[in-house]
Amino acid sequence: MKILKPKQIIVALDFNSIEETNVIVDLLDPEIYRLKIGKQLFASEGPKIIENFNKQGFDIFLDLKLHDIPNTVYKALKNLLSHKVWMTNIHLLGGEEMIQAAREAREHTKSEALLIGVSVLTSLSEKHIRNMGFNMQISELVKNLSMSAKKNNIDGVVCSAQEVSEIKKNFGADFITVTPGIRIQQKKDDQSRIATLEDAIKNGSDYIVLGREITASENITKMIKKVESYII
Ligand code: C5P
Repeated sequence: MKILKPKQIIVALDFNSIEETNVIVDLLDPEIYRLKIGKQLFASEGPKIIENFNKQGFDIFLDLKLHDIPNTVYKALKNLLSHKVWMTNIHLLGGEEMIQAAREAREHTKSEALLIGVSVLTSLSEKHIRNMGFNMQISELVKNLSMSAKKNNIDGVVCSAQEVSEIKKNFGADFITVTPGIRIQQKKDDQSRIATLEDAIKNGSDYIVLGREITASENITKMIKKVESYII
């Protein structure tokens, strides 16, 4: 079944070193995949890892999920966006001033990076949200947070694939949805709100984040072939 466009899959490189990532990255074509650098890899390798993958022709999603006071987010993002990144993100729970500060940082660096807001982490369930004191369903919280992203003119949200159709309905087809927690055959791990690749695409997800599904697979080459069998 050909349901994916090239570059719609973002591979989460949750590793400690460049050497470890190379085992996977050497098997990936930059015309087909984008790469996600998260906190783990960035904490050990620092910004040079961005340049390293740029040189190989990959688009980079810098997934550091900034969440701090507006001034700190502004300054941190200005530094981060001095590197060439295709997409980066902040936590929408940081509030509207923080979202605006992030947008200003992008304007002031003249970066073309897509700026995306994390709504509710896909590892969280209804029970977690209730225990935190939110008196609403996750879907409603995701909607409220997505509204704050839309209102403050950032490009889209990270959400569960289960929430994509509602977000597209409310905020328009061009409001980007990035969906982690996608499973082809692996187990759930620490994710709660998971979905299959087919459902994610059917619901309208723009970008699919695949992490352990590829990286922890018993036969990585076979898994990559399987993923590529879905690509048009
Ligand atoms: O291994 P798995 O496919 O579950 O990887 C999910 C990746 O997506 C991780 O790198 C994680 O940091 C990231 N992510 C997430 N939930 C979000 C945003 C990003 O799991 N809401």
